[in-house]
Amino acid sequence: MTITVAIDGPAASGKGTISKAVAARFGFAHLDTGLLYRAVGAKMLAGVDPTDAAKGLVPEDVVGDHLRTPEVAQAASRVATLHEVRAALVDFQRAFAARAGGAVLDGRDIGTVICPDAQVKLFVTASAEVRAERRFLELDGKGIEVTRQSVLADVKERDRRDSERAVAPLIPADDAIVIDTSTLDIDAAVKHAEDAIRAVLG
Ligand code: CDP
Repeated sequence: MTITVAIDGPAASGKGTISKAVAARFGFAHLDTGLLYRAVGAKMLAGVDPTDAAKGLVPEDVVGDHLRTPEVAQAASRVATLHEVRAALVDFQRAFAARAGGAVLDGRDIGTVICPDAQVKLFVTASAEVRAERRFLELDGKGIEVTRQSVLADVKERDRRDSERAVAPLIPADDAIVIDTSTLDIDAAVKHAEDAIRAVLG
């Protein structure tokens, strides 16, 4: 059967962790769509025109720890405001969503623009402070040099840019289930997501 699970939300909200967990639990494939924008952002930092980069993206481009740095995250959110960049990435994401056997896509506009007919839509959020602390621990653990303040500033700036942009802004779909992970641990958040999927699978 074809089932699409759309998981959107702001930076470091826990959507990636929840996506991986539910994909593993139900045997669905998982696409972290943020990696597509990060790969285009990294190419822009290397001097490539972002629209050309998006049109010419190859699988090797979306692999590598260099995509996880705060500089690349900022570049990703800048290229993500460009209509041509977003348009170049639509077909790939929709084809992935339609694959047999089920797919989980996480990002910012999956339930609103990429897969408005997804059977399950979740919007995962948390306070900026909680998200920044999580991202600080993640980056610090990878040996990337950051401070708590710089990570909080990065998260808030990307939240603002992602929410205020004209094309595909970050907003919950009308029919999305909102999961606030400010005070939920990861197991509880994953359980919410699994319950929503089971309700659809029957
Ligand atoms: O991991 P984190 O939530 O910090 O970011 P990400 O999901 O890797 O996304 C990086 C940036 O790509 C975001 O700040 C968005 O600007 C952009 N993005 C987007 O516009 N649409 C998506 N579907 C996914 C990411």
